[in-house]
Order: sequence, then C-alpha cells, then structure tokens
Amino acid sequence: MKKLFFGALVLSFMSACNSDNISNQEEISQDTGATTGLVASKRSCPSDLIREKALKNDPALKARYEANELQAENFKRDLSMGKVLADGTVEIPVVFNVIYNTASQNVSDARIAEQIAVLNADYSATNSDINKIPSAFQPSAAGNVKISFKLVATNRKQSTKTGWRSDLEQMKKSSTGGINATDPTKNMNIWVVNSILDENNQPGTLGYAYYPESAGLWYDGLVIGYQYIGKTGASAPFNLGRTVTHEVGHYLNLPHLWGSSDTGCQTDYSNDTPTSPGPNYGTPSYPLNRVCGGVSRSQMFMNYMDYVDDKAMFMFSANQKTRMQAVVAAAGPRAGLR
Ligand code: ARG
Ligand code: ZN
Ligand code: CA
Repeated sequence: MKKLFFGALVLSFMSACNSDNISNQEEISQDTGATTGLVASKRSCPSDLIREKALKNDPALKARYEANELQAENFKRDLSMGKVLADGTVEIPVVFNVIYNTASQNVSDARIAEQIAVLNADYSATNSDINKIPSAFQPSAAGNVKISFKLVATNRKQSTKTGWRSDLEQMKKSSTGGINATDPTKNMNIWVVNSILDENNQPGTLGYAYYPESAGLWYDGLVIGYQYIGKTGASAPFNLGRTVTHEVGHYLNLPHLWGSSDTGCQTDYSNDTPTSPGPNYGTPSYPLNRVCGGVSRSQMFMNYMDYVDDKAMFMFSANQKTRMQAVVAAAGPRAGLR
C-alpha cells in the first residue's frame, strides 16, 4: 500500500496533469483520499511540452495549430472592429454607387439612409408589418436573421447614359462610364442607375444581384433602379425599399420561392417555404393555393423572395435565415464581409 502510494506520487510529479498515463490514474483512483491533496498542492502541466514535441514532429498538426491561431486572431479583430456584434449579428458594410443623368435620379443621402433602415428592420424582423404573418406560417418565420447593414460610403457620378444593360455591367467600371466596386470582398456594393435594360434594350427590371459564387468579383453586388431606393419619393407599389431586401436575399444565396428556373416547382433549398409554380404579383389574398406535381399547397407569397408588391411581402423563413447565415459564417463564401 505504502509503496503503491509512493509510486503514484513520483509519477504524479512527472506527469502532473494525469492525462497521459492511464495506469497511473487507475492507481490513484484506488487511493484517492491519500493523493488528492498532494496532487493539488503542486501543480504542473505537461500540455505545452507534449504540444511542443508533437508540433515539431508533425507538420500537418503544426499547420492546424497555425490555422487555429489565425482564426482566433480574425475573430478577435472582427469583434474589435464591430463587424460581428456582441449578439453574433454580422454587420455588412454597404457602399452605394449612384450613377445619374438628371438631378432627381441622384437619390438623396436621406433616401439611402431610409433604405439602410428598411434592410435593418426586415433582416431583424422588426419591420412594422411583421405581425401580418399568417398563423400557419408563424412557426416557420425566421425571426431575427442577425445580419445588419451599415453604410460606409456613397459614391456619385453624372452620366449622359439613360439606360444600363444588365448583361453588359458597364455601370460597374469607370472605363465604361460607371463606378468601380469598392473592394467587393469586404463590402456589399449597390449600384443605383436610372434604368435597367435587358439584352434587347427593354426596361422592366427593378433590380438584380449576384449569388455568392460571384463573391468578390468586379461585378459582385446589386443593381437597383433609382425609383426603388428607400421610401420618400420612391415609385409605388415598390416604395417600401423591398426591392433591395429581395436582391440582398439573392446576394445571400436565396433563390426565388419557385427555384432558380422559370419552369417553376423547383427547389429553393428551404423546406419551410412551400413549393411554388412561379411568381405572385400585386397583393394576393391569403390563403392562396397553387399546384406543383399534382399537390396543392398554401403559398408563402408574403415572403421577400416572391414578386408581390412591397406592402405584401414581410417575412423570411427560418430555413432561409440558416442559408444566409451560412453565407456570412466564418467559413462561408462571403466571410470577407465580416
Ligand atoms: N428582380 C425583381 C424584379 O425586378 C425584384 C422584385 C422585387 N419585388 C418587390 N416587391 N420590390 O422584378
Ligand atoms: Zn429576384
Ligand atoms: Ca421550399
């Protein structure tokens, strides 16, 4: 008994964390009362010694250690820069690039501030119409998406052009009469133009955006018609700032409710948004049932990712929130925004 106790004591000085010698631990556990005090009275820990040896001998382990330290530094920096707020909200820096012909197209700072406020309300579920969510959809409502928006710069440029084709992206390069993106790996750029034209030079688009696979490319970001920025002086029925809410959804990897194809009834990768055959317009009345694959489902047309009027859309779903959080997560495709 005495010999066993002494052996345990010596061993306990050699490997004081009791973590590397199972048989030693077993011996101690047979005699807990006698050893506890001694083990606690002189503390040492071989963790660093063990680590030092292991890191020297295993380059893969060393690389993992270095990656972990880098991640810890980045996390600390993000916190101190206020980009990841205390409650985990990711604050996205936003740059507005306004290209106008006439003075009225040069949207005011006040309207841009209104737009940022709309984004912050809609993405935190503090929008004034959030209580309109039908009770059947309340269990699948996102609540606070925990993504917020902060205006960091507004660039303005006069141009003689009266329309900008979405397939040419000339508004995004100064060499083609536009404004270059401000580091799109770190900022969400929004170009405001007087008219968005299709490849046949036809107007009709309120706005468009790039999905996360384009993160950081020169054309990454949103393009929005000046009529749909903010609220004051904006064009009804798209005058509640929700064109930008919708396009930011795409920027954060949300497809339309009917999927990313005009055929409809495709997946939007959110199982809490009922499958939809295609867009809804105007102000539909609830409930609205539509059919995909022979199955009739009550449509979540009040979701921001439908095409209804601004006043008829007021929610994201919980699954949509998860998808957007994945995009801005530390390992996500838009982690650079953090
Ligand atoms: N890209 C869509 C369009 O141009 C945006 C729809 C936005 N919907 C809205 N109610 N603001 O039609
Ligand atoms: Zn869309
Ligand atoms: Ca769905």
